[in-house]
Amino acid sequence: MQLDKIFENNKQWIIDKLSVDADYFSNLGKGQNPELLYIGCSDSRVTAEDLMGLQPGEVFVHRNIANMVISIDLNVMSVVNYAINHLKVNHVVVCGHYACGGVKAAMQAADLGILNPWLRNIRDVYRIHKNELKAIENEERRYDRLVELNVQEQCINLIKTAAVQQAYRERGLQVHGWVFDIHSGKLIDLKIDFNKLLENIMEIYRLS
Ligand code: CO
Repeated sequence: MQLDKIFENNKQWIIDKLSVDADYFSNLGKGQNPELLYIGCSDSRVTAEDLMGLQPGEVFVHRNIANMVISIDLNVMSVVNYAINHLKVNHVVVCGHYACGGVKAAMQAADLGILNPWLRNIRDVYRIHKNELKAIENEERRYDRLVELNVQEQCINLIKTAAVQQAYRERGLQVHGWVFDIHSGKLIDLKIDFNKLLENIMEIYRLS
């Protein structure tokens, strides 16, 4: 890839934006007011704004390998706290995707060095749902299901945070689990029952 091309693209992008709205960048510079926090995978094929048809300023984005929400990851926790407490988003989305390399790596016996502790969180998801997953004979289908269950568990990890619990009570913040089907381009809502999850885990994880 010629990196010069990127700067050429940027010039054209500015021209395109200004041709529609001459104040585009002066408005963009005034600040952000996104209503949505999106936590997705770093995979180069799974964009955030592009696949949702959203524009700059509309979604606060965090991406890491396999869209994980890990309580001692200062990075994701800072993003979650900032988005909820300061930007006041009302929706938090965890978006996984089929054919996720991170999830696949966690299904295999391989020493991946520094990735081991990260991917171990997905192995934990597998362990929690072992019976359901082992009953799926088709390996591709089992892999897809682990992608979905990983999204669900990361939603639960969000619900374990004080920021989500407080915003849920104060203004009805909602957590959503989605999967991007990389084979068709379709965004799928897993329709995770937020209230039921909350009920099930609050006995143990209630922070305030
Ligand atoms: Co991925």
